[in-house]
Amino acid sequence: MPLIAAASHDPETRRRLEDEPMTPEREQGSVARAEEQWRSGTGAPFVIADAGDDRALGLVNLQFDEAATLAVSVFPEERGRGVASRALRLAATWGLLELGLRRVVAEAAADNSASIRTIEKAGFRREGLRDDQVRFCLLPEDVDLQ
Ligand SMILES: CC(C)(COP(=O)(O)OP(=O)(O)OC[C@H]1O[C@@H](n2cnc3c(N)ncnc32)[C@H](O)[C@@H]1OP(=O)(O)O)[C@@H](O)C(=O)NCCC(=O)NCCS
Repeated sequence: MPLIAAASHDPETRRRLEDEPMTPEREQGSVARAEEQWRSGTGAPFVIADAGDDRALGLVNLQFDEAATLAVSVFPEERGRGVASRALRLAATWGLLELGLRRVVAEAAADNSASIRTIEKAGFRREGLRDDQVRFCLLPEDVDLQ
């Protein structure tokens, strides 16, 4: 939780995900909100963990609104080595193969080239532009069925 709280003050994360910086009270609320999303089935929030030493690297969240939509953030010191693209791919594959979703969506602001490249590198198809958001999707046939 200290790492998540520290990352919530990162200007780029705040700008892109419109998150409020954490206070001790909001930290408690954030755990409760994550638990509630799992319980109610409105979302599947994950902490991205390093496969080697299990340390937290960032957050990836699959939200179930009118579409199943992924959002990702990587802690500033962990960026630039493929964490976000791999996490997006893994979370989308879980949704398509384990949950049986027919499509998983990811969106990025048209001026967020880091996010656009990350989503493309995860293998998503570009669908189009809506309200300055580039919309991408991944379908079951795009992921390995083995
Ligand atoms: C966008 C973000 C998730 C990328 O995380 P990351 O782990 O560094 O991304 P990856 O290492 O998987 O990079 C994937 C691709 O994006 C490119 N990329 C990453 N950051 C970039 C940047 N700032 N500018 C341009 N390209 C960038 C990488 O070079 C890589 O492409 P390549 O292999 O062709 O070189 C991270 O910068 C972040 O958390 N930003 C703040 C929150 C945010 O914008 N989230 C996305 C909203 S949906």
